[in-house]
Amino acid sequence: MKPTKLTYGILIVIGLIAIGLIVSSLFKSIDKDVAATHTTASSEKKAHPNYPEVQVVTEKAHDKVYSMEIDYPQFQSKKLNKKMNAFVKMAKEDFLHNVEENKQQLKSQEARLAIRSDMQKFSDHIYSVAIHEKSCLHEKQCQDLSDIVIVDSKNNNYINQTEILQDTEQNRGTLFQLLKHAFEQSDKYSEHFSSKKLSEWVYDKDNNFSNMYLADESIVFQFDNNKVIDKEAEITIPFSKMQDVLTDEWKDMIRHESTEGSDNTENSKSTVNKENTRDNDSTENNKSTEDKQEDSTIKQEEKNSNSPSVNQEKHPSSNQKRVALTFDDGPHPQNTPKVLDLLKQYNAKATFFMLGNKVTANATVVKRMKDEGHELGNHTWDHKDLTKLGVAGIRREIEQTNEAIRNAAGKNPTLFRPPYGATNGNIEKIVGLPSILWTVDTRDWESLDPVAILNEVKSHTTDGSILLMHDIHTSTVNGLKSVLDYLVGEGYEFVTVSEIIKT
Ligand code: NI
Repeated sequence: MKPTKLTYGILIVIGLIAIGLIVSSLFKSIDKDVAATHTTASSEKKAHPNYPEVQVVTEKAHDKVYSMEIDYPQFQSKKLNKKMNAFVKMAKEDFLHNVEENKQQLKSQEARLAIRSDMQKFSDHIYSVAIHEKSCLHEKQCQDLSDIVIVDSKNNNYINQTEILQDTEQNRGTLFQLLKHAFEQSDKYSEHFSSKKLSEWVYDKDNNFSNMYLADESIVFQFDNNKVIDKEAEITIPFSKMQDVLTDEWKDMIRHESTEGSDNTENSKSTVNKENTRDNDSTENNKSTEDKQEDSTIKQEEKNSNSPSVNQEKHPSSNQKRVALTFDDGPHPQNTPKVLDLLKQYNAKATFFMLGNKVTANATVVKRMKDEGHELGNHTWDHKDLTKLGVAGIRREIEQTNEAIRNAAGKNPTLFRPPYGATNGNIEKIVGLPSILWTVDTRDWESLDPVAILNEVKSHTTDGSILLMHDIHTSTVNGLKSVLDYLVGEGYEFVTVSEIIKT
């Protein structure tokens, strides 16, 4: 039989029905999947709160059995995002694979994946990103994993930790001693610590110190659970103690950064001399010079009743004990406002000894100090040792700074504090402002440790004390609340230096 038009027609109809059935069954199966998992997901991109030039991606997703919350930064360059993106992608895939395999046993949103990232800016183009993953199938079945990426956004590449640490046998030995000491001194970790595991980690020939990142004037080592102790650990070692183990390139870089600060980029007048060390450079030599200078100046001031000096006797008009908090080397764009917030909260007045070269870029912060009743002090233009300058040089250091503060706050500074405590009668005559040292050195620049700062305050503060701190250090800001709490508890009132020295 020859095929007729009718049979063709029938075949076409049958074909169409078949296609229809296939398509509809496909849709149904997709429908079913959606109904079964009900995944809700969102993704959001926002500027980083401290570093607006970097974006932070926040992804959230959950269904009946799991939830995910993921946070990670994105730089402008695709190349610089590669490592972080790969870490996040792998973590997600592993997690979802695990969930899929254990779907039957999982109760409502019991499985969790959390990825968070902490970012620290070391200089205007170098960032450390610590990514931390915690994934749990059940409450008690969790896994931690972390990674550190150091990014150089100017040169568009990554920095390996081994470019920062000079990896020699001797340096590993030094590093072992530093970390051992830090673990043993730590309230949090000392009882879990065994030096055997640390030694195994330090001397492992495959160790490339990829758990190390650059933070605020320190280097941080982040240890995963069970790496060295039976929990996660984070050990911070100040740059000053790491000098010996750094490569030459990074020794220079760190000296440069800590001298210049990262906040005076807008300041074209700034003529910071790289060779110049500062009190917060915290080299051993520097420290002892400052100590000696400090002692001799205090003695000198005690002898000389004509020169303005610290009066430690009780103020006659008040029975309350008083203390003057002083903050040096700022203003700092992020840390100083935090100090001001805390002072406000405690209704505390303080005194800020500022570097002229940081004032203009942070003029609003300086204005705020004045508006909130704090005292403004001159700490020279760029932290020079004035005993090494001639008359014209001293004048320039002081007058430029007075002018910058006056322009920012509408008011001249009322006090002067010599860098390194280094001064003499001649300098004081030229400066023309009361020279103020301190009676309690919290050594905050050296320890970079809130607990150590509080301990210094506890063991040395008396009525009429002048406390020395530095508002440029994040660790000082972090420790300030406990210092304020302690002093309030001891019955102190917080006043400006001029209040304390008034007779
Ligand atoms: Ni200083």
